[in-house]
Amino acid sequence: MSGKTTQAMNDAGYQSFILGNYIFKRDEYFVHVEWPNGGHILPADRFLKALMRDVAWNFFYGIVNFDEVFGTANHYGTVDIFAGSYNASYRDTGKDHSETFDSETARHVFEAMLQDWTNEGFDPFAAPGETGSAFGPKRGSNENAVKRQRVTAKRMTGAADDTPLRNDMNGYGINRQFADVPQDEPEIHAEPGFEHDVHAFNLFAYLSRSDVTWNPSVCSVVKDSLFCPTTEEYMLPVIHGNDRVEWFIQLSDEIHWEVADRDTGEARARVIMKAGDVAAMPADIRHQGMSPKRSMLLVWENADPALPELYASNKLKANPIAF
Ligand code: PHB
Ligand code: FE
Repeated sequence: MSGKTTQAMNDAGYQSFILGNYIFKRDEYFVHVEWPNGGHILPADRFLKALMRDVAWNFFYGIVNFDEVFGTANHYGTVDIFAGSYNASYRDTGKDHSETFDSETARHVFEAMLQDWTNEGFDPFAAPGETGSAFGPKRGSNENAVKRQRVTAKRMTGAADDTPLRNDMNGYGINRQFADVPQDEPEIHAEPGFEHDVHAFNLFAYLSRSDVTWNPSVCSVVKDSLFCPTTEEYMLPVIHGNDRVEWFIQLSDEIHWEVADRDTGEARARVIMKAGDVAAMPADIRHQGMSPKRSMLLVWENADPALPELYASNKLKANPIAF
């Protein structure tokens, strides 16, 4: 299916966008999503923060719920854009709606929407206290923020020919909430001949200089094993529905997770993770984190493309551990 922009700007100065049978509009405060037999409304800041991540993460693993109704389900090549498909009430009353798109087509429309609807001074990746407002009539743009690429190391952050470490010189100052994080780097003494294969860096120092929140970056890669550390503050702007197990290691401070059934949204658990805690988030849940203070979290992903099918067909158990 195709995606396109309707040229006309509305009174608030924003363009509308068409993708399949969906129409997306924004006004000063809200985004309106319409489809043939229904419609939905979300706050513009919430929508843009979720949209930013969906675009930067290329629809991520599994389901990205923008809220309890609207979101995307990644099939790695195609993507479902849905309304109510993972909401028990919508489904029970037949009000759910889903359309499948070629991922690239959907991403292009999402990118155009993100660009047109993000005002000057608003950074969808920033903590609330570190960005301007998303609201109001159209006011300039924020190209630098919306075009930000996700950091993905080939082997390991700071290794030769790989994504660089952060420092004052390349524009990454220490965040106000991590002023006490030591900045010393480890000494590396490789055996002769192994200089290219042995590497180490201070992950806490690296994370203390992150300018974004809720944006796991790939910092080490061993086959399908990806270490994706991230800094968190306030609330994960999506409700993530897993299609595989995800491991969390809380590196500093504290995050409160609301965990619910992936398909219905029925509440399942609250998990309060403190520094040093490890959790395995099952393959059949959705979750949203809240971080009262900026914190460091290591998300450990298994990128094996065979996993979604193995869980969907019950060949693998949704919980990796039974106590
Ligand atoms: C997750 O859905 O597992 C997730 C996403 C973004 C984060 C942390 C966790 O920053
Ligand atoms: Fe997740």
